[in-house]
Amino acid sequence: METKTSDSEQQLPKLRIQIVANGPALIQGPVIITDQHGRKEQKNSLFALCRCGSSHSRPYCDGTHNYNGFTD
Ligand code: FES
Repeated sequence: METKTSDSEQQLPKLRIQIVANGPALIQGPVIITDQHGRKEQKNSLFALCRCGSSHSRPYCDGTHNYNGFTD
């Protein structure tokens, strides 16, 4: 199945963000992440940012949202 995109969508950068219900924000770069300590890291493939605030590896999701009762 072919998906049509508008001219304005074709001009957008190739950054995609998908919010997962009751879970993280999935990000597909390329993108540069600056963490809470000012460290920068370039990401080129899919990764997940924590939205629940309970991850032990913030800003990234570690799956804790599956056990802490986080809901949207
Ligand atoms: S959203 Fe997954 S650990 Fe917070």
